[in-house]
Amino acid sequence: MKIQIINGPNLNLLGVREPNIYGSLSFEDYFRELVRLYPEIEINYFQSNTEGELIDKLHETGFSYDGIILNAGAYTHTSIAIHDAIKSISTPVIEVHLSNIHAREPFRRRSMLAGACKGVIAGFGMDSYRLALEAFKADFK
Ligand code: DQA
Repeated sequence: MKIQIINGPNLNLLGVREPNIYGSLSFEDYFRELVRLYPEIEINYFQSNTEGELIDKLHETGFSYDGIILNAGAYTHTSIAIHDAIKSISTPVIEVHLSNIHAREPFRRRSMLAGACKGVIAGFGMDSYRLALEAFKADFK
């Protein structure tokens, strides 16, 4: 089973950025733990602050991987291009967020991506990624 994790803008600063909202762990440290927890799954990680690079990674992995876990950061709320990219590929995508986007500012309540995704997991901190992995694992035959 092959899973791609894609993180969007500002998520390279996890651990430093607004720790009261996003926690104090870096994604690299969390990712190491995730890989250790699931030795049977090939998990790859990509982060970019650039919309086009996120789209390129969706295209690159979206026909051969078994699942994509996508935290598009603020592009979640704005990007029709990422919505279209998710629609264009065959690999299912789960949208994840560390924070509960519905309990924050009104502009975060709308996701442009959710309607193109298999499902959405939000509000569980870093554990949102593991829960998405479990959802793909449960489905994998
Ligand atoms: C986020 C929520 C977004 O609204 C925000 O722009 C982010 C992080 C989250 O993981 O909680 O960058 O996707």
